[in-house]
Parts: sequence; C-alpha cells; structure tokens
Amino acid sequence: MIDIFSKRSAFATNPIREEDTAAEHLEREGTHVIRLNTGDPAVYMPTPRYIIDAYVRALQEGRTSYSRSEGIVALADAVAHRYSRMYGVDFGGDAVVVTQGISEGLGIINSALIDEGDRACIFRPYYPAYMTNLRLAGGETVRCGYNEDSGWSIDTDEVEKALGQAGGVIKYMLITNPNNPTGTVLGRDVLSELVDIANDHELLIMSDEIYDEIVFNGASFTSIAQLARGVPHVILNGVSKNFDATGFRIGFIVVPEQDETSLALRQKFLDYVRVRLSANTPAEYACAEALNNVAEHTRATKAMVAEIQDRVNYSVDLLEENEYMSVVRPEGAFYAFPRLDLSSLAFQSDTEFVRGLLDEEHVQITRGSGFGEPSHIRLVCLPPKEILGDAINRINSFCSRHAR
Ligand SMILES: Cc1ncc(COP(=O)(O)O)c(C=O)c1O
Repeated sequence: MIDIFSKRSAFATNPIREEDTAAEHLEREGTHVIRLNTGDPAVYMPTPRYIIDAYVRALQEGRTSYSRSEGIVALADAVAHRYSRMYGVDFGGDAVVVTQGISEGLGIINSALIDEGDRACIFRPYYPAYMTNLRLAGGETVRCGYNEDSGWSIDTDEVEKALGQAGGVIKYMLITNPNNPTGTVLGRDVLSELVDIANDHELLIMSDEIYDEIVFNGASFTSIAQLARGVPHVILNGVSKNFDATGFRIGFIVVPEQDETSLALRQKFLDYVRVRLSANTPAEYACAEALNNVAEHTRATKAMVAEIQDRVNYSVDLLEENEYMSVVRPEGAFYAFPRLDLSSLAFQSDTEFVRGLLDEEHVQITRGSGFGEPSHIRLVCLPPKEILGDAINRINSFCSRHAR
C-alpha cells in the first residue's frame, strides 16, 4: 500500500458509530438490533409537521441554489431573535454563522484556533467530536472534568489547578450545557466562575447549548451569553435536538460581542464558511420559519421534553435496579451514563462490555471511554418505553450472566 495518510487522520474516529458495521451486519442477517447509540430524536419522534411543510415549501419555491455562505439573513436574524426572546441578550444576525450542524462548526473552530501542540480545556466526559476535531487540528486537551461522586459537578478549584499545571498555549474552554453524555445542567454560579476563570487565563469561552430546551427534573438553564457579556465568547447551537431536525444539518456559531477579538472571530469563521460555499439552502429556509414560529415550536417542544423526561427517568429507574452499575439521574439531554462495576463483572473494559452486549443481546450502546470516561456506558433513552424496557432487561440479564 502507498504510504499516503497523514498521522492526524488516525484521530478520525467516532465511538458512537464504531459498532455500526457490526450492527448492520447482524441486521442484514435478519437479527433485530435495538440501537441506543445515536442521539437522534427524529428516529422515534417525527420532526414537527410545520417544519417539514416549511422545507417542502422552500423546495417548491425553488430555494435550491447555494445560499449566502454565512447563512441566509432570515435564519441568522431568527437565531438572534431566539436568544433575545429566551435569554434577554441582544445581538444582531451579523453575530451568527450558519453551519452544517455543530459538527461542521467544531472543525472550523479548531482549524481556525489550534496550532500544533496548542491546548483546549474540554471537560471529561465530553461529546466525542470535540476531542476528535481538536486532535485533527493538532491540539491536546487540558485534563479537567466533572466529578461523578458529587453528581457530575464541576469543581472550579480543580479547573484552576489544571489550567495552572497545563503549560503551553491554551486557546479555549468548551462547556456543554446540558452535557452529553451525563445530562448535567450547570448552575449559574459555576458557569459564572468558569467565565471568570477563562477570562483570567485569557481563554476564549465557548458553550455548546444544543440541548438548551431539553431540560427537566427541576433544573433550570442559563446561557453563557447571559453571563459573559462584555467578554468574547462563542455559542454553539442548532436545530438537531431542540427542533428535532437532526437530518437538516443546520447549526450555528454565534459570536455575540463587538470587541476586537469577537469581530476578528466572526470574520475568520466567515472566511472558513466561504470555502465550503453554503449550508443546505432549503433547510435554512425551513429553519428560519421554525425558529420564528414560537407558538408551534413551544407546543412541539413541550410535548417532546415531557416525553423525553418520562423515558429518561424510566430508563434510570430500571438501571438503578442493576447491581452491577450505578447511575446519576440526568437533568437534561436524553442519555443515561451509568458507571459499570467492572470488579463484579467478567469484563476487562467498557469496550468489551459493549461488544459482548451487541453480539449476545443485540443491543447497541456506546462505550464510556469514547467520552473520555472509561468503565461507563452511554444509552440513548429516546425510544418508547417498551423498547427501552426490553433493552435494559437484556442489559440486566447480560450482566447477571457475566457476573464474576
Ligand atoms: C453536545 C453535542 N454537540 C453537538 C452535536 C452534534 O450536533 P449537530 O447535529 O448540530 O452536528 C451533538 C450530537 O449528538 C451533541 O450531543
């Protein structure tokens, strides 16, 4: 074989999808696999009708050309209005760059900010694409994380310490709120402290708020845009989760402030999106309508979040009965992230557990090590309760069968 690949290309992996080929193989052989690996609400809860109608209308109106690289004005303005309406922060559509999902935004951000050996503060457990994109750009992480024993909280003294010890150039701090995979919703106080710490260390603070409306069990959400006024910050959001429109591939990078750094960031992101011409034009038109149709959206989201809360709590109740694992109850997103007690199970690692579960019980989940947290597993709690119940019963009998 020709020696053709870059060294960095080895980082192009996604633990959430790494068992897909094996699962598809089973399915081709006629085996039904319960797939709890991808966090895709639209699989089980159809995208609301009014959004689909808007997409169809966009096509019928001939919105099929490339669009403005940074996104159509109507969508950028709709994102600005949403933040103003929901969080009382005012910025114009100029602050918004539309991307093909946050997934594309992460590649752009890391390519724009990271030089070989630069660092970023990404809290463990993290959404895997953060680390992948950081590494693909040649970067490394600062070791900081949530503490599971105190309900996946963040100890800001530990963050200070980690930043102090890290050495090298640290470019940004990235918060996910609510978090994937733990479902943690960070409180206002800890968020404020993180903003201060980032400021003191001259790091850009970024907040991925893609689940900001999927909050439950009594938690309340604060946007970083409410706390970081006057300092450069970046917000990531999109329609995949809150609007139940994953396949539209529409996300946003928002840089709300007007200082020199923020304006330079906006220009740089614009340079990047011009390279790839445009996002998905009909989806942009549909999303502009979706974001502006507050009445329909409120109705749809209320129903979706109530259903998600029910399914997550049901899953967690069942998982709590499993003596081979422990789980912190989430307050947002739609995952459960139990810790495996590997001392009582005949597996060396979460990876072995996940592979065995797929082979023997035909349930596909994701290994915690893919989120930077070994000895854990992540389950997507989106299917109806009968399916979740079936899957968790299979997990429970799998554990009993492989107990040490
Ligand atoms: C925290 C987080 N950010 C971003 C994404 C991907 O978003 P998008 O569909 O906009 O690419 C996900 C998907 O699961 C996620 O959990």
